[in-house]
Amino acid sequence: MHTVVRAGQRDISVPVGLLMGGRFVAGSSGETFSVFDASTGQPFVEVASATEEDARTALEHAVAAQEEWAASTPMERSEILYRAFELVKQHTEELALLQSLELGRALPDSTGEVGYGAEYFRWFSQQAMAIRGDYRVPPAGVGRIITHHRPVGPVLAITPWNFPLAMIARKVAPAIAAGCTIIVKPAQMTPLTALYLGELLQEAGVPEGVVQILPTKSAKNISVLLDDDRLRKLTFTGSTEVGQMLASKAMEKSMRTSLELGGNAPFVVLEHADVDKAVTEALAAKMRGAGQVCVAGNRFLVHESLAEEFTRGVVAKMGEYVMGPGTREGVTMGPLVSAEERDKVAALVDGAVKEGATVELGGPEALAALGEEHPELDPQGYWYPATVLSGVMPEFEIANTEIFGPVLAIQTFSDEDEALRIANDTPFGLAAYVCGEKLARTMSFAEKMQAGMVAVNRGALSDATAPFGGVKQSGIGREGGFEGLGEYLDTVYIALES
Ligand code: SIN
Repeated sequence: MHTVVRAGQRDISVPVGLLMGGRFVAGSSGETFSVFDASTGQPFVEVASATEEDARTALEHAVAAQEEWAASTPMERSEILYRAFELVKQHTEELALLQSLELGRALPDSTGEVGYGAEYFRWFSQQAMAIRGDYRVPPAGVGRIITHHRPVGPVLAITPWNFPLAMIARKVAPAIAAGCTIIVKPAQMTPLTALYLGELLQEAGVPEGVVQILPTKSAKNISVLLDDDRLRKLTFTGSTEVGQMLASKAMEKSMRTSLELGGNAPFVVLEHADVDKAVTEALAAKMRGAGQVCVAGNRFLVHESLAEEFTRGVVAKMGEYVMGPGTREGVTMGPLVSAEERDKVAALVDGAVKEGATVELGGPEALAALGEEHPELDPQGYWYPATVLSGVMPEFEIANTEIFGPVLAIQTFSDEDEALRIANDTPFGLAAYVCGEKLARTMSFAEKMQAGMVAVNRGALSDATAPFGGVKQSGIGREGGFEGLGEYLDTVYIALES
């Protein structure tokens, strides 16, 4: 169940079956689906598509393996995770090329993502050995309270296309550390990275049945597992709408649920910010993966006294991006993942312009002229040029929608209270950013931002060793950090008679 794909200058042998019970198999119907090269819009490989029957078989494997896996030693699980870390690092080039091919993302970003994903394996290899219990004397001094932890049991992980490796690593690594078995449904658009990782996990020594990976062209084929109460946890990263729908299903069986949903991150540049620094960090917050990131800066709120200089700075830097196929040397911005995503971004920008925004760079005209300006780009690819808009107002659709593209939309404010009100005026609360040189004032602003993650004077906050997650409608639970492991463990209290 392998095929060879050409990615950049490399031929890479990739599994194209379903990973179940420690083997790659064709699946019960023998059906497949196509994976597309985002830079040409052409299919380049067929991957097995899991059916409902396959999902049930995968759950049988996960359930069968659960008891023995839960009884494995922390050291065994830690060593497997550390080997997984080493293997992912050793295969960085293959994993990055595969992502750049199926997702379109520029190679430097993909390489960064592989490093980021690998760190989850390293971190949780350490956390596996740090699971603690507790021994307490109750206030009345009678008896003892003992707590210990048990793996929650089989997990279903549904992961997005924008981080095809790291989002799986962030769920699989703590599941392994805790002693849970897991079934992963990778995104339909990016199954190759997931399957390649699955093979590395087998090589790292993950026992049969502990990790299953089920690509499918129909997500419903997998989500039926939420009806089975032998499944004990749902972890989902993706859109708010789908996440909330799946979570309500999981709730019917009182499953543990972690959700990482959409965001609408404000990036606030206070009056006392260093503009050069703010420009650099704004680009870091916006342009990773061509803006297709849940924590990407979505609303750039700039003090009116700095707006002109900030706009000039971001236009200059955004103009330096080199667009092209993600696997090509020298490219710094690939196409978007699909025609649908590209059209969504284009519609948001068109709408903003109609509502009164000014195009400072890129935008509708640049998109229309793309064929002439960039004859080297395949016209069937899902291109959208780096775009800067100024004069955006809080009520514009673009300011209330996750853009998921290389569009930096600037609003202005005149005082910090107004900035805070605009920043928090959203049902979402995943990430938020603030730049300012007066530390106490900037920190006080940061503390009032309604988000699960707040970055001060920096545009990058993702870190396997830190708790990732949102407040309000951006999610439930945390991934990574010390907190990430707890999501896969139940606490058991033993009441001891004295
Ligand atoms: C996401 O976009 O969902 C994840 C971003 C990250 O982990 O940095």
